[in-house]
Amino acid sequence: MREKTFYVTTPIYYANARPHIGHAYSTIVADVLTRFHRQRGVDSFFLTGTDEHGVNIERAAEARGVEIRALVDEVVGQFKGAFDKLEVSYDRWIRTTDPQHEAAVQKLWRMLQERGFIYKGNYEGWFCGYCNEFKDVELKDTHPQCPIHERPLDRVSEESYFFKLSEFEKPLLEHYEKHPKFVQPDVRRNEVVSFVAGGLKDLSVSRVSVKWGIPVPGDPSHTIYVWMDALSNYITALGWGTEEHKDFDRYWPALHLVGKDILRFHAVYWPAFLMAAGVELPRQVYAHGMLLRGGQKMGKSLGNAIQLEVLHKHFTPDMIRYFLLREVVFGQDGEVTYEALIDRVNSDLADGLGNLASRTLTMIRNYCEGRAPLASVDDAVVRNGINEAKTRFDEEFSALNFSRALEAAWGGLARVDKFITDNQPWKLAKDPSARSRLEGVLATAFEGLRHLVLLVAPVIPDSARGVWAQMGLPGDPVQINPNSVAWGGPVEVAKIEQISPAFPKLDKGRIMDEINNEAPQSTPSAQSEAVVAPQAGQPKPAEQTGASVQAEPNVITIDDFVKVELRAATVLEAERVPKADKLLRLIVDLGEGKPRQILAGIAQHYAPEEVVGRKIIVVANLAPRKLRGLESNGMLLAASIGEDGRPVLATFMEEVPNGARLK
Ligand code: MSP
Repeated sequence: MREKTFYVTTPIYYANARPHIGHAYSTIVADVLTRFHRQRGVDSFFLTGTDEHGVNIERAAEARGVEIRALVDEVVGQFKGAFDKLEVSYDRWIRTTDPQHEAAVQKLWRMLQERGFIYKGNYEGWFCGYCNEFKDVELKDTHPQCPIHERPLDRVSEESYFFKLSEFEKPLLEHYEKHPKFVQPDVRRNEVVSFVAGGLKDLSVSRVSVKWGIPVPGDPSHTIYVWMDALSNYITALGWGTEEHKDFDRYWPALHLVGKDILRFHAVYWPAFLMAAGVELPRQVYAHGMLLRGGQKMGKSLGNAIQLEVLHKHFTPDMIRYFLLREVVFGQDGEVTYEALIDRVNSDLADGLGNLASRTLTMIRNYCEGRAPLASVDDAVVRNGINEAKTRFDEEFSALNFSRALEAAWGGLARVDKFITDNQPWKLAKDPSARSRLEGVLATAFEGLRHLVLLVAPVIPDSARGVWAQMGLPGDPVQINPNSVAWGGPVEVAKIEQISPAFPKLDKGRIMDEINNEAPQSTPSAQSEAVVAPQAGQPKPAEQTGASVQAEPNVITIDDFVKVELRAATVLEAERVPKADKLLRLIVDLGEGKPRQILAGIAQHYAPEEVVGRKIIVVANLAPRKLRGLESNGMLLAASIGEDGRPVLATFMEEVPNGARLK
């Protein structure tokens, strides 16, 4: 029988844009899980990487005017750098441009073809280049948009190879039935089951219109569908399809962690491909929820993602890791705010674990000359509390209920805290006859802390190491199995020397001010050309309203405001302006019958195709002006954020007709 191993994967990230906290989320979870299993002696493997083929990568490179390889190499560097900074330690970084991966995907293709699951046909449909899939849209819709990206779909009609997905309807349903935990959580499982039960059509698995990808073996005018290419990474990274497949033999099947938005690919297409190839199916596909901001999925499309650079400026990696695991219930969507992060750090880390460590160690230093006493005393309450916490922690963690696992650990922590408060060692220290009791109390508190630090080490490895070292304990807590450490077991302890708070309390007001001020006030020099109202020749507010405005400098009257005609519009076309690296030339529909041209200084932050199809807000009654010889008839609204004044386009959360006035 094969030895028990643990293999976890994250989705591979599109190598076309910088990473944000949404990408960091599943990667941190995978890291924490791997550390958890490894700490318990399980032979583990953690895979992550980048998805580097397909039309959206091609387009991003084109939009930036760089070679595709240069773009993907740059983005891979950004992702690796971001994950390193978050203490993520993966075992392999797969790139779908790795020659070994490409060869193995072609091998998979040949296997499917030889087994009769691939045939040639013709496909016509509406295709989203960002999802890389054809979309089911209503026939009457002549200009359909992608429901996810809200961008126009492309009408694509081409010769295509098809995978006989329809043949897997029954086998898939049987598999879901036989393995009720194959897709989790249950709500997602039910969605998948009803999707498959609703009927599966054969899947188009090649494109002639996409060049950047893996050629179909024997027919290089076709490129293998990017999702078939990408999904295969989970086995090719272990050497499947090559001579060197011992990692595949050792670690497969995997636990796939994926966002709920890409569940269908993992829970339907991927197992069908594997069944067709005769490969064992994954152990489980677990779909997590989305990190939200203002109730909406954080991401590139909406430009509302919390940037990792900002987080790193104010928070340590352990704070970010702890917060994401504790605050967001794994499997559900979760709103993420800086305020909640600060509150969590202060209550659980600074006032909780940090305070327990510093009060325990300070008393041992002050009352016991820095040597932790070994003999504990009537400690059943604490011992049972910690043992309970350990059992629950492991149960919840194994079920991927990270938030509840941490809650359990903090339950144990509360017992130790209460024990200290009840026994008042600071009073015992004043009474020489209570010496052995004092030592017993401190030994118990120390022992409780020792077990807790081991428990939380997979989540906050850096801080766990810091506290462990301050406790004078040998070894690395990340590598010590909490379940192999008996309560009150003999411990070698060095003298406690330096005590520094593991988690300093965060000053919420100051940090929030700093974060808010990082989005600089709009100053003409900080703003980009066309996002700014024209300065020269434009009347100043006081001139506009005559002598009536005597208010403070930044205050206007309603009369001032109504002069500004703000209207909803849709971007129909966008292109870069030659020799003006900041400018995009936009053609926008303001519901006036005739589209207008607007020049916007957003080209360094938005690619033309990112804005096409977007709903924007336009200052419609601004006097026309010329930029680079082109007339601009209006100005679009954007927030200016971060140190570089990065523009983030204003938009609506609900459907709004073009021309609707904002007031
Ligand atoms: N390349 C595909 C995956 C191929 S896997 C064989 C892809 N890439 S992605 O970069 O767009 O997304 C990668 C993962 O990041 C997805 O699981 C997605 O759910 C996740 N997230 C992106 N934004 C997110 C949030 N705001 N919140 C949580 N996760 C999010 O899809």
